[in-house]
Amino acid sequence: MKTVTVPLGARSYSIFIGDGMLGDRQCWRDIIAGRRTMIVTDEIVAEHHLGRLTATLGDDCATCVLAAGESRKTLATAGEVWNRLMEARFARDDVLIALGGGVVGDIAGFAAACYQRGIACIQAPTTLIAQVDSAVGGKTGVNHPLGKNMIGAFHQPAAVVADPGTLATLPDTEYRAGLAEVIKYGVILDADFFAWLEANIDALLEQEHDALAHAIARSCEIKAAIVAADEHEQGQRALLNLGHTFGHAIETGLGHGRWRHGEAVAAGMVMAADFARRLGWLKHDDARRVRDLVVRTALPDWAPAELDAERLLTLMASDKKVRGGRLRLVLPRAIGRAEATADFDHELLRRMLKEGPAE
Ligand code: NAD
Ligand code: GLY
Repeated sequence: MKTVTVPLGARSYSIFIGDGMLGDRQCWRDIIAGRRTMIVTDEIVAEHHLGRLTATLGDDCATCVLAAGESRKTLATAGEVWNRLMEARFARDDVLIALGGGVVGDIAGFAAACYQRGIACIQAPTTLIAQVDSAVGGKTGVNHPLGKNMIGAFHQPAAVVADPGTLATLPDTEYRAGLAEVIKYGVILDADFFAWLEANIDALLEQEHDALAHAIARSCEIKAAIVAADEHEQGQRALLNLGHTFGHAIETGLGHGRWRHGEAVAAGMVMAADFARRLGWLKHDDARRVRDLVVRTALPDWAPAELDAERLLTLMASDKKVRGGRLRLVLPRAIGRAEATADFDHELLRRMLKEGPAE
């Protein structure tokens, strides 16, 4: 087992990463420390993994099984969790466990943030995206029909228990979508990790054990460091949004759930790299490396044609990254270095969105 710490003073917590963690009674006993627990999961994850976790935690653990999918990441679904907590008379010192992907993690984390003004939430991520990104860092929330993740709260988990063994049941398309966020860490902050990904992408696509363990642990280390430095996204944490302004526009424009989040982020990352190249920020070669890695991962490398330039620009303008009416983009300066900026040529952006990819 590998442990990564997110150092946040009194709210510090550990990310435990290891095969078989869902069945590790001692680890769970230590984390839960005698408190009442409710597992929030979705119907698909429940089928594959709920039995193992309830066997580990014991019969008195309550459950709340939600319908699966991004389209269910709504305030109404968070309401279902609050109803279950009320019915089961959960109190402020009880604990929610989010067993599932980013959708379950975001909903359960948000429900925990609001219930009685905040109860503890343990994240038990079962998708790659959740293990490398969404379970760590305390961003929780739900979608609004007019925008992705628009209703939410920062609420750090009490612990993260990531069992890569759960990924064996994950459909290949979901797994590859998770690799988009892994690639993102290389592009924004770690050129060596990006080069490692280029060399090991085939092993990762095969879910080869050591490669996967390294990718998850390194991603968590990078995310933990960023969150520790900038918990509430006043600065450096914004870099984690590389590809997300384009990506959220794609997700909202198509309707939540048509493209996977990771697919939209992959396309958004290539678009950000291409735009950075057009601005003269990024070398042609580096933009090509980003695109090549995304393509080798069999992820989309551009927004779908049905979203034209004007529609994308309108959607991007309503993104959370807009500050003081100015659209901000995270753009790579080199592989391993990115910057957030509102200072760019908007006509050039419009032209790129009209023209499509360079080659
Ligand atoms: P998801 O939770 O919808 O999971 C994808 C699908 O896989 C679902 O159908 C789910 O039921 C199924 N599934 C999950 N684990 C499984 C397993 N082990 N075996 C079989 N099926 C399994 O989506 P996701 O891709 O995990 O996460 C995307 C969401 O995460 C988006 O809503 C995005 O906004 C959010 N997100 C949040 C953060 C954050 O910092 N909070 C970061 C990145 C993404
Ligand atoms: N996934 C972006 C963040 O956690 O800040």
